[in-house]
Amino acid sequence: MKRTLLAATLACVGSASAYAADLAFNPATAYTEQSTQVNGQQVDYRAYEGIVYVAKPVDAAYQQMNVYIPAAYFKGEKINGFTAETAPIFLPNQIGGYMPAKPGQPGPDRRAGNTPNSILVALSRGYVVASPGARGRTQQYGKAPAAIVDLKAAVRYLRLNDARMPGNAEKIISNGTSAGGALSALLGASGNSADYAQHLKALGAADARDDIFAVSAYCPISILEQADAAYEWQFNGVNDYQKIQMTQIDYNVERQLIKGTQTPAQQKLSDALKPAFPAYVNTLGLKNAAGAALMLDEKGNGSFKNHVAAYLVQSAQKALDAGKDLSAQSWLTIRDGKVLAADFDVYAKSVGRQKTAPAFDDVALGSGENQLFGTDKVDKQHFTAFGLANSTVKGATRADARTVRLMNPMHYIGQAQNSPHWRIRVGTNDRDTSLAIATILATKVANSGKPVDFAMPWGVPHSGDYDLDELFTWMDGISR
Ligand code: DHB
Repeated sequence: MKRTLLAATLACVGSASAYAADLAFNPATAYTEQSTQVNGQQVDYRAYEGIVYVAKPVDAAYQQMNVYIPAAYFKGEKINGFTAETAPIFLPNQIGGYMPAKPGQPGPDRRAGNTPNSILVALSRGYVVASPGARGRTQQYGKAPAAIVDLKAAVRYLRLNDARMPGNAEKIISNGTSAGGALSALLGASGNSADYAQHLKALGAADARDDIFAVSAYCPISILEQADAAYEWQFNGVNDYQKIQMTQIDYNVERQLIKGTQTPAQQKLSDALKPAFPAYVNTLGLKNAAGAALMLDEKGNGSFKNHVAAYLVQSAQKALDAGKDLSAQSWLTIRDGKVLAADFDVYAKSVGRQKTAPAFDDVALGSGENQLFGTDKVDKQHFTAFGLANSTVKGATRADARTVRLMNPMHYIGQAQNSPHWRIRVGTNDRDTSLAIATILATKVANSGKPVDFAMPWGVPHSGDYDLDELFTWMDGISR
């Protein structure tokens, strides 16, 4: 359904006094009343913007969040069956490229044809919205694990203020895309883990739980220590690439395409990385829905590969059923309107490589992830043994294992207080990380006994929030 967005009206109400440093939310102070048409429906809400969610911020410009509350909840009214007590809290982070992120605001989604963004859609469907900002890799104090610690602190703020704020803090639903999707998954995986306690304490985060109700993650750039091997498992032998250069302009991450071919040295690195992936996958003990083991042989073939390909088959079948012409997709076997098979190797060739080996722990310390794993003293570091061993940078160092661990949800799924509901999406045209990454995450969560709605939407590139009707239908379903 096409949504229309009309002009918002703005009226200033309440005092402009600063929020209390004791982290208590006061619904009577410092908000504006806003009103926007979403899909022909008028949505009235209060905007509480710039709430610093920790008592001892390192960077208050980022460690803040915007809270939007449907006006109906201040009048005892219902929206979409929700009340001030029962409305879930939608927690969309705006993190891209592991860069610093400001809290989001309701408005048009620039990357989705200016249709209403997730915050507006959430409000129209009766959700309370809390959009957290977070520190990022380009800042001295924004290195790992800053962003996840900030998101946890935001969750703790909402829990602390559950009785003071409309919305149910036991129903926090996180959403994010790419790096933001990885952090959304990590937030859902690492609930209440003591591993982050010292970091949270240092910020003066609220003394409250930080587990969440549900995770929505689009194209998570996750499992970073294994992502290089996963990438070469998928793309080894595909040497032409279309690289995307990322820059941040006015808080928006911009992406630019650069074409090239892997050098012989990069091809050698690819060959060396590829066998590390089966070795990793085989340690996980993953199983498919029928309980069969998902493994790979030393060449990278086997049941895990078939498992990934099965999601491609599902995606293609859905596209075919919707009337798409798939006859040009040489990697698909289609007979009588049924997609019978997807050849993963031919798929990889056809979708194409985007990053050179190693895709994440760059030997020249040139990746965003190298900067993510820097420290307040060293801007960029390696974070894998392979990256360090093959480093071309004199004196390069490696991030400490504890910090790397704090960024990987795989260490927490099935252990800490995991989110009970998960929705993960990665498009079939996404080359930013291997399709194996989202598949491993989804499978690990499913194997831990939690329901996971996982799919690879047909033809969708590295992006998120492109199916908000479906996302919110899922959210409604788990929230009731
Ligand atoms: C993002 C994309 C990447 O390719 C990456 O390595 C990290 C983050 C992003 O879009 O957030």
